[in-house]
Amino acid sequence: MMSEQSWNVRGYQANAGFVPALGRPVLALLAPRPGERILDLGCGDGALTREIVEAGCDAVGVDRSQAMVAAARGRGVDARAMDAAALAFEAEFDAVFSNAVLHWVADADAAIAGVARALKPGGRFVGELGGHGNMAAVVTALAAVLEKRGVDAAAVNPWFYPTPGDYRGRLEAAGFSVDSIDLIPRPTPLPTGMKGWLETFAGLFYAALPESEREAARDETLDLLRHGLRDGEGDWTADYVRLRFAARLPDRPSPR
Ligand code: BEZ
Repeated sequence: MMSEQSWNVRGYQANAGFVPALGRPVLALLAPRPGERILDLGCGDGALTREIVEAGCDAVGVDRSQAMVAAARGRGVDARAMDAAALAFEAEFDAVFSNAVLHWVADADAAIAGVARALKPGGRFVGELGGHGNMAAVVTALAAVLEKRGVDAAAVNPWFYPTPGDYRGRLEAAGFSVDSIDLIPRPTPLPTGMKGWLETFAGLFYAALPESEREAARDETLDLLRHGLRDGEGDWTADYVRLRFAARLPDRPSPR
């Protein structure tokens, strides 16, 4: 069985504090209205859930990581530990929001079905995840480093970066109509460089190697990536590509 990504709240905030900040356009697409009940699917440390609360909504955040749930509660957010592919809500939300999480969920259809169950009729599902081509250089460098050492990188890669056509098909199969779905290239400066990014997000790749080989493998990844992603001043920019969508359920549930 594939092991699980582990989350360190401080490391995440230092190396990837831009994730909630750059999630604001998704929040704008959600357009939360005062009084709405909104689920933040994969709330992380609750930074954006808090903004939904401040917009006058009754927000609930769920995250698989207990450490992130504790951090979100520390911001005063109603946060609960829950797997995105096994949501335990029935027709209670006006909208489900998700930023930078769904590419970690292997069973995308189970997650989408759980969102459909959690929404009231007419409810909205607005989100953003890594889309086709996301971090292509990084994924290629990780694969090269692992495969050189005899490890099948595809077997340990935890990320799912669908095309708009793929994700639209999954949303429609779950009963959503899709208002918009777009791939958005978003080169993203990394505040602590690629080393910090790999430490926070790529642990599962290196965990597939014997401990004694991990540091050399990390250095080799950086060496490969610096040609395209590090500039003359030594600053790193990651090759993010977002898949952003807005979908809704019909006002009345369809007869079964
Ligand atoms: C992303 O937001 O695209 C992402 C974040 C961490 C790991 C992989 C992808």
